[in-house]
Amino acid sequence: MSTQKGREITIKVLKFNPRSAVSKPHYVEYKLEETPGMTLFIALTYIRENLDPDLSFDFVCRAGICGSCGMVVNGKPSLACRTLVANYPDGKLTLLPMPAFELIKDLSVNTGKWMDAMSKRVESWVVTNEETDISKLEERIDPEVANNTFELDRCIECGICVASCGTMLMRPDFVGPVGMNRVARFEIDPHDKRTAEDFYELIGDDDGIFGCMSLMACEDHCPKHLPLQNKIAYLRRKLVALR
Ligand code: SF4
Ligand code: FES
Repeated sequence: MSTQKGREITIKVLKFNPRSAVSKPHYVEYKLEETPGMTLFIALTYIRENLDPDLSFDFVCRAGICGSCGMVVNGKPSLACRTLVANYPDGKLTLLPMPAFELIKDLSVNTGKWMDAMSKRVESWVVTNEETDISKLEERIDPEVANNTFELDRCIECGICVASCGTMLMRPDFVGPVGMNRVARFEIDPHDKRTAEDFYELIGDDDGIFGCMSLMACEDHCPKHLPLQNKIAYLRRKLVALR
């Protein structure tokens, strides 16, 4: 069995508890030994178990599926459970909570509250007047259309595209790339009977499709590699004609 020690890494975390009258934002540095294949999630768990039981951060699945562990790593919004410490040659990582979301404490933010409000704003459900007869087989749809819909359904609501977005900093009511992706998902779904005019009512303004500055960071950082800019351009082409 190898007894070789791993290198020492330094993780610097911005800590703050907005619910405490005495807490002020401040950095805390933790030094620990890197282990083989160590992810940021593993490092943070080590810190919480051995160095600082007060450190708050979120995770559920540890596999890039639940979307809970988004945080800003050396300036880039990323999933902690998919971030390998080995990819940082100097072994120094600075962690901040994602902007644009309500801060719960330290690295923990309330993405769920933001996603809920966005889902209601863009009416993120199939809208149709047709009655569903559950005794009948479901209406068939073109496999290519189904694939395109499933592709956009891969979003894990991690909020990384929102935290990466320049428009979000200026327009707090912006629906964000994830909101636009959601609209595109229902726009291509033949079960949804909304017209282009209906979608224009929802997102035909500067807090929607016309607010995007095409900086592309959303797509660059999306851990699911969703075609966000492509879909935003698609919606913009459809809706600009109605302006
Ligand atoms: S579109 Fe990508 S980055 Fe944005 S919430 Fe969904 S999975 Fe996360
Ligand atoms: S813990 Fe679920 S995506 Fe990272």
